[in-house]
Amino acid sequence: MILLSGFALIQVLGLLIHTLNQVKLGKLEEEQEFAVRAVIIYRHIAMAPPQERAAMLAKEPLPKGDTAVLSLLPPLQGTYPMPLPGREAIRAGIFAYGIPPDIRPHGMILRVTGNPARYVVSFGMPDNLLLPGLPPAPLQMGGAQGGGGPFGLGPPPDDNGPFSVLNQLFNGLLPGAALPPVYWLTISSTLPPVVPWRSPGFASAFIIMTLLGALMITWAVRELLAPVKTLAAAAEALGRDVVHAPPLPETGPLEIVTAARSFNTMAARIRRFVEDRTFLLTAIGHDLRTPITRLKLRAEYMEDDEQRAKMLADLDEMEAMVAATLAFGRDAAATEPVARLDLASLLRTILDDAADGDPDHADALTYSGPAHMPVRARPLALKRAVANLVGNALKYGEAARVTLHPLQRGLARIDIEDDGPGIPQEEMERVFEPFRRLEGSRNRETGGSGLGLSIARNIVRAHGGDITLANRPERGLRATVVLPV
Ligand SMILES: Nc1ncnc2c1ncn2[C@@H]1O[C@H](COP(=O)(O)OP(=O)(O)O)[C@@H](O)[C@H]1O
Ligand SMILES: [Mg+2]
Repeated sequence: MILLSGFALIQVLGLLIHTLNQVKLGKLEEEQEFAVRAVIIYRHIAMAPPQERAAMLAKEPLPKGDTAVLSLLPPLQGTYPMPLPGREAIRAGIFAYGIPPDIRPHGMILRVTGNPARYVVSFGMPDNLLLPGLPPAPLQMGGAQGGGGPFGLGPPPDDNGPFSVLNQLFNGLLPGAALPPVYWLTISSTLPPVVPWRSPGFASAFIIMTLLGALMITWAVRELLAPVKTLAAAAEALGRDVVHAPPLPETGPLEIVTAARSFNTMAARIRRFVEDRTFLLTAIGHDLRTPITRLKLRAEYMEDDEQRAKMLADLDEMEAMVAATLAFGRDAAATEPVARLDLASLLRTILDDAADGDPDHADALTYSGPAHMPVRARPLALKRAVANLVGNALKYGEAARVTLHPLQRGLARIDIEDDGPGIPQEEMERVFEPFRRLEGSRNRETGGSGLGLSIARNIVRAHGGDITLANRPERGLRATVVLPV
């Protein structure tokens, strides 16, 4: 938008400059044309014998709107000096045309009058013979008298003084003229207003140019922004699946290639880091098994029955934890492919399985929500994550009410509610840590390893979603799974 509005501004300014220029040039052209017209008439009249001039002028063909008169004094009343650019253009036109030396005018007075401006050019005739029967100066040369020139300015005040005519006569004398001319030929014309865009192709050329420019800007910006979108998509894919995310193509302009390369390096490092961690966890879990087995064998030889039973129970617990650790490692390295599945049926299957495992609480296991909701996910992993949450709700809360909410902004939301004691606010995040169990759970011999929530959150986050816990105001816990579909 910024580029396009800048471009629009440039176009408008360019059009304005062009128009002003055209008007100025057009005016100049008209002025020079008028000057040539005037000088042709002058030449024609000046070359004729003085006695015949008046009669010739009467027969002179004049363009429409032009007037030409012979008079003893130039008709200066109601006129004011021509502005400098016009004067220069007219002079240039007259001198460019060329007048034979013997009929050069003895004087030249350039004036304008009225609004729109009427150009008045008076030539002092070259011979000082007084012609009989010439009219005195007409009082005005057509157009409105006084009252503002072409730019709304009134005639200059010097025009009203009694000496102004004489002043003008002497000012109008050309160098070399000894005496003021005795009579004058005055030609006047109102030049038509200048049309700025005369060429018919201009408008279409300008529109085509503007459209092409706007198109090019739009295209270039799209082209430039495309890699940013690709990068965002790649980051999103990496968040969902560190192991399988495809690398960014390292093509395009140098800056993009550099960014893509850095991104790929970062992805590789994250991948290696995850793999190292998983490997370490699995290795420890694996290597602990042998000493635990040996310890169990040794414990069998203990004399004290009570001590032996306690030690064996501890060792069993350790073994379970190791098994869970190994499973955790397997999960993290899981390479299950993403598939289309029906989230609603998946949830119902989990509840059915839970009911089979705990028939006493079958009534406390409910599902509400749509009958079907197709999503893309890793079926086994997702099932395991939700089953962990349902298992917790059943184990610690004696119930599991699962609600599937309709899609909102591309996110599916699953709530799992129970009627248990909930979790103290300060433990709400820490229960997600591996092996983290609350005191009550240990005492109640519920037989977990403290890995369930870590695994569940790992899985859901690998899908690009998240799990959050909250105590319900009534009683019990609500686990919420948000999942992009
Ligand atoms: N629905 C729940 N109500 C109360 N406490 C819970 C609930 N779910 C989890 N917890 C607490 O969080 C701890 C961690 O849970 P989890 O990671 O699943 O491990 P585990 O179930 O093996 O103990 C549990 O030991 C329990 O104290
Ligand atoms: Mg659990």
